[in-house]
Amino acid sequence: MSAGIGIHDLSLATGQYVLDLDLLAAATGTNLDKFHVGLGLDEMSVLAPDEDVVTLAASAALPLVRRHGTDRVRTLMVATESGVDQSKSLAVYVHRLLGLPASCRAVELKQACYGATAGLQAALGLVARNPEEQVLLIAADVARYEPGSTAEPTQGAGAVAMLVGAEPGLLTVEPVSGVRTADVDDFWRPNDRSVALVDGRLSVTAYLDALSGAWDDYQARGGVPVEAIDRFCYHQPFTRMATKAHRRLAQRTGVELDEAALMPTTRYNRRLGNSYTASLYAALASLLDHDDDLAGRRVALFSYGSGSVGELVTGVVGDGYRSAERGLRHARALDERKPVDVHRYRELHAAAEHPSDVDVDVPVASGTPFRFAGVRGGARRYEVGA
Ligand code: HMG
Repeated sequence: MSAGIGIHDLSLATGQYVLDLDLLAAATGTNLDKFHVGLGLDEMSVLAPDEDVVTLAASAALPLVRRHGTDRVRTLMVATESGVDQSKSLAVYVHRLLGLPASCRAVELKQACYGATAGLQAALGLVARNPEEQVLLIAADVARYEPGSTAEPTQGAGAVAMLVGAEPGLLTVEPVSGVRTADVDDFWRPNDRSVALVDGRLSVTAYLDALSGAWDDYQARGGVPVEAIDRFCYHQPFTRMATKAHRRLAQRTGVELDEAALMPTTRYNRRLGNSYTASLYAALASLLDHDDDLAGRRVALFSYGSGSVGELVTGVVGDGYRSAERGLRHARALDERKPVDVHRYRELHAAAEHPSDVDVDVPVASGTPFRFAGVRGGARRYEVGA
């Protein structure tokens, strides 16, 4: 174990169904290479009728709770932009499903895809104040756009749970970070909409401008030069965005950067699609599971949330980061999804909204550890599965 504060363990979960993007390409008359090469996506996760962002978040955290217990967890934070309630925090539902102690605070965080990185910074502060405490931080989202839009292939779903504490096993987060906030209407979801509104081209330039700004701030605050960073994980709304980001950083720093080195960070996101807050941390999970030479290496994480906030943080990987069990669990979460065709995916997309004024019982569909059971008296009900 290394000293300092950071990510002690992490775990990825996703939906029970998967859409092969070849099927979407055929249904929409799109050249396959546009998805596989142009966007760098192969599949997207789709939720079963009895899954939602709450069940995803709880499922991601369950392995951490089983492995590490909950005695030291004083705070549960869930970062999401797929919230199910304007008032009650998603974290409170997850708190019950996971059986966390009552003496644990629970809160939801939002700033588009950036929210989990704000959560990470807050968690580092809480642990610095009391190194005995741990924070369970979960990034969970369902990316939804209008069917038929150019953004449709960049949907997906996923959650990454992280245990943040002192003497972390996986990644010690370094003190310097670079941030950049700018008010941009590149992507947003007004309260009366269930799918995002997006200006796709503006969103790509806003992302890259946030990276430049965050990098400049990182340098101004004494961050290390780019040559001292061994690996780069970027927020990946589609994995080709990581290549665009890497090129921007090379241009900004005047240093040639190896694009092939991004490959181990993209393996999960190629198959999940966009998972908003979880996407950057899915990239980190993918790196940790697929790179054998990370011990002691410095990794940069660039987080971007539309609207917009960008932050670049760095961390150093712990000696014992490799875990065959973790890699197998993540591979199973992806490999065991059930294929759906385009017609079924679009049916599920249309049926995912449940108005709060109609009582509904949702039949068991997925066999997941936690399930969305329906709506009663305006309140969403969740059950611990079999
Ligand atoms: P589009 O209209 O499909 O874009 O929208 P395109 O026609 O420019 O094609 C995309 C790429 O495919 C291009 O490559 C094409 O050349 C290439 P580029 O020029 O960019 O390098 N292409 C091909 N390549 C090989 N063979 C072919 C072929 N055809 C075309 N035959 C867009 C793409 C991403 C804009 C759209 O899907 C979209 O609006 N997605 C949602 C928004 C998004 O993901 N934005 C990313 C940055 S913002 C962000 O990351 C935040 C976010 O996660 C939300 C949050 O913060 O909460 C979205």
